[in-house]
Amino acid sequence: MKTLFTGQSLLRVDTVGSTNSYALDWLRENDLAEGTVIVAQNQAGGRGQRGNSWESEPGKNLTVSFIFKPHFLQVTRQFDLTRAVSLAIADLLAVFLPAAELKIKWPNDILVNGRKVCGILIENILRDTQISAAVVGIGLNVNQEVFHSAVHAVSMKNAAGKTFDLQTVLESLCEMLEARYLQLRSGHETRLRSDYHAILFGMGAKKRFNRSGEIFEATVLGTTDAGLLRLAAGEEERNFNLKELSWI
Ligand code: BTN
Repeated sequence: MKTLFTGQSLLRVDTVGSTNSYALDWLRENDLAEGTVIVAQNQAGGRGQRGNSWESEPGKNLTVSFIFKPHFLQVTRQFDLTRAVSLAIADLLAVFLPAAELKIKWPNDILVNGRKVCGILIENILRDTQISAAVVGIGLNVNQEVFHSAVHAVSMKNAAGKTFDLQTVLESLCEMLEARYLQLRSGHETRLRSDYHAILFGMGAKKRFNRSGEIFEATVLGTTDAGLLRLAAGEEERNFNLKELSWI
């Protein structure tokens, strides 16, 4: 693997509830080196955003958690890590699926030709106002062909019409993640923010949203530095967090 630290320590588990929970449990008891990767063949209780579950057929996809130690990142800037991780996945897909349309749907769903190919669940361990460790959980649909519960899901195989070697994709993921993480660590968040906006789904377009049952249409203006979604409806401009809003 052509990385400095990401994936240099790699733990493969057969069946686990959730790689994120596994990593968090480990971190409570032990110190894990930055860049440690936990890869599961099968997740019995894969966790998604907003308390959802994550569907993944055993042995077909990547269900992985990465440990990072972004001590340099204030809690108020944690969305920059989300940006770095989302962009790393987009970088990876640009290599493996050169013909596909790639978008990041706020906050961090990765879309291939309009359908979700990857979900990200980042869980931070905080010390005062800093992030002492981040568990970056990634569910990347690689070779699964049919999705039962996730209606808008797609895999790399669905998009390319061919099977991918999971080890090759994993190694590339380690490299791409490390490159974007180092960009963040060396203070290039302005670049991360502009790259994120360059492939943000719906940027500059009118989209429909649900806010506590109220459906409304608004133009996507981008995100604030802290990661709120900036919307304009008529004369009014407002920022929303994930709990307030969902896409329709
Ligand atoms: C989402 O809802 O979009 C986020 C899904 C994140 C799934 C991954 S799979 C590896 C890691 N372990 C989990 O339990 N969840 C994340």
